Amino acid sequence: MTFRVLVVFGVLYTAQCTAHSFPPSFKFGAATSAYQIEGAWNVSGKGLNIWDTFTHDSRNSVVDRSSGDIACDSYHLWRKDVDLATELGLQFYRFSISWSRLLPTPFRNEIDEDGAAYYNNLINELLKRNIEPVITLYHYDLPQALQDFGGWLNPLIADWFASYAKVAYSLYADRVKTWLTINEPSILCDYIYNTGKLPPMIYEPMLAPYLCNKNVLLAHAKAWRIYDEEYKPIYKGRVSIANNPVWIEPASPEYENLAELAREFGAGRYSHPIYSQKGGWPPSVERHMAELSKKQGYPESRLPAFSIEEIELIRGTYDYYGLNHYTSRVIRSRQPGEQIGPWIFYGCPELDAVLETPKSWPTTDADDVVMYPEGIRRQLEWLHQKYGNITFLITENGCASRGDDNDEDRIAFIKSYLEQVSIAIKEGINVEGYTVWSLMDNFEWLFGYKTKYGLYKVDFNDPQRRRTPRASAHFYANIIKARNTDVPTSQTPKRQEYHNHSNARSLHINILLLILFWLSVK
Ligand code: NOJ
Repeated sequence: MTFRVLVVFGVLYTAQCTAHSFPPSFKFGAATSAYQIEGAWNVSGKGLNIWDTFTHDSRNSVVDRSSGDIACDSYHLWRKDVDLATELGLQFYRFSISWSRLLPTPFRNEIDEDGAAYYNNLINELLKRNIEPVITLYHYDLPQALQDFGGWLNPLIADWFASYAKVAYSLYADRVKTWLTINEPSILCDYIYNTGKLPPMIYEPMLAPYLCNKNVLLAHAKAWRIYDEEYKPIYKGRVSIANNPVWIEPASPEYENLAELAREFGAGRYSHPIYSQKGGWPPSVERHMAELSKKQGYPESRLPAFSIEEIELIRGTYDYYGLNHYTSRVIRSRQPGEQIGPWIFYGCPELDAVLETPKSWPTTDADDVVMYPEGIRRQLEWLHQKYGNITFLITENGCASRGDDNDEDRIAFIKSYLEQVSIAIKEGINVEGYTVWSLMDNFEWLFGYKTKYGLYKVDFNDPQRRRTPRASAHFYANIIKARNTDVPTSQTPKRQEYHNHSNARSLHINILLLILFWLSVK
């Protein structure tokens, strides 16, 4: 009996000691995006993008009236960014290319030499330091000239985007092996047109989100196919899209069907056409939207149909699943007389449902992000169950912190989310890496410089934009070195400290195993 208890205790203890470790192949990175860090909005040939136009219009709603005109000045100070990545021990750094910096017109007729050189230098320096560059082609900063043609609502965007992607591949694919086409399409389409708050400031929740959704998928697919046909055979890299579903749970068991429909409506609309065997819209959403549109008097579904050729064009255009994950919600039906907030964080008018955050989920210093670490694992499980044994790369995760230098809330956030990722891996889900948003404080869209996501703090009053590590930077560096979340949290570790930490753990495990061995031979 005692022996059995000891065995159970031993197994549990050993499991606990190694519970949140990561396999040797797992990679750790951090991310930024062009408009949020580069500045240099009108340097060399750079064309205007929609965020330049928006922030320069005095009617914009950025909380501190700021812009990305200078931001972290990474266009000039990129070496410092690479220093931070090196200091953290990052294995990869995810950044985005500004379309209007590379292609000022923004078509293929003219490549801006300085713009091209900027990304070239950054890539080379990263590689020199053994840090893999991961490129996002589009991170919200649409060239203004394309917006003037209707932007993501014009079906021609698919070809414009593919053409831009080809330029980027032709310049950098010899050295960049991991690509993301489009960042957070559900913000780009659903959030933007359901709120009208972000550029292009169009509020049109009935048709625009779905037209945009379809055009984004076609743009992604065309860009993926160019890589697959022309570059992959030579350079062996891979391309995906960075989806950002909010994980949705039922507010109570009776809402499980509603929650499942909401997941298909949120995650499925951007995943099923690419990752499912059959392609096309998720059938439950297609049915729901057709019925609802009919009831509303539309001659056809507001969710635009795909032709058979389009389904085939999009289906299978992935090499991995890029997952940005921040937060979760619970869903329930609307009560009579109740107002429904806009999709994607506050409600789901299309499903006549309300989205909420239980009081037990801690808030963070960003409006929409509540902390529910299990959400990342459940989201991974759901995608794994739907689309089979695909490889996941967590392309963003993180939170805005209330702390300044000592950002304990961010440490708790990263630690607990990473722990859930490690559980998912142990369940057999193939997650190959994790990316913190963000390497450093930057222009946080409508929240300007007030909301801070950085592992590094940036002094925006300093012309040199001094970057200093927060406690979370030390913590993340510790995790990367130890490949484990069980590391010191609050102070800069000396190399010796780690070793003591992990040595102590191995010593405990070894003693335990010795006792078990002794008992079993007894
Ligand atoms: C996701 C977006 O990709 C990024 O641009 C943004 O800053 C973070 N979420 C935080 O809101």
